[in-house]
Amino acid sequence: MKPIFVKQWHGIALNTVKGFNAKEIPGKEFYADFYGKFFQTHENWDDLDSDWLDHKVNSARFIQGRLKGMERVLSIGCGIGIIEKYLLDSGAKDLEIQEVSEEPLKWIRPLFSSEAVHIGRLPECQDHSRKYDYIFLSCVDYCFEFHEWIEFLDEIKGLLNQTGRCLVIAPTFHLSNFECSELKLWIMFKIKKILSALRIYDLGQFVGWRRHKNEFHHAMVSAGFNVREEGFLNKDAMFSKTYWIEGEPI
Ligand SMILES: C[S@@+](CC[C@H](N)C(=O)[O-])C[C@H]1O[C@@H](n2cnc3c(N)ncnc32)[C@H](O)[C@@H]1O
Repeated sequence: MKPIFVKQWHGIALNTVKGFNAKEIPGKEFYADFYGKFFQTHENWDDLDSDWLDHKVNSARFIQGRLKGMERVLSIGCGIGIIEKYLLDSGAKDLEIQEVSEEPLKWIRPLFSSEAVHIGRLPECQDHSRKYDYIFLSCVDYCFEFHEWIEFLDEIKGLLNQTGRCLVIAPTFHLSNFECSELKLWIMFKIKKILSALRIYDLGQFVGWRRHKNEFHHAMVSAGFNVREEGFLNKDAMFSKTYWIEGEPI
């Protein structure tokens, strides 16, 4: 795992967001304030950063291909819902969304029926009487410590049909390949950490963890999934390596 530090996101300086803490993964208060500020500076979908949009559309196209034949689908941690908007615009039916709080849902919520929107934490925010065929999580794992991520996947397993599938998709790092660009970033990060310890460099907000593909795999297996397939998406405008892994309950 590699810590992710961010100074600004979607043009918002993170040290202006309530609950800013360079040492702890942000909680609900941070995200609520962040999204409040986000919607003050972004009026509609057209205001989104083009590189970020390219990254999300790349993921959305891939997810769309995995949903063929799937009836009841849930997106966990949908954020502002850019992937889900793409899926709806492409004709997705029986798609549902879940988020921990309602702040990010300002644009996406009106596009769904009220029964298809689940707000709160798992498992409380879900009616367990009907299971899902497919659950996907895009860029959500980073918010969790490793053991919490395994427990979270285990809870997700309980929401799936026996033949259901869970897809995790997220940018990853892959230092074992010794790619020059990654190695350079890794060394730069180590230097910045030292400068930050000396209080001459501001690392920004610690937002969570970037994981290696082996960690994603290990978490899936530890949570009781059989890994069906895994791979990488083609490079997009933001990330060279977006990893995906799909599992089914054992
Ligand atoms: C970077 S955003 C990703 C949003 C979206 N999936 C995407 O790919 O654009 C991470 C989201 O995970 C959500 N999240 C954090 N902890 C969560 C939890 N315990 N359950 C569900 N969502 C969570 C956050 O609220 C945030 O909106």
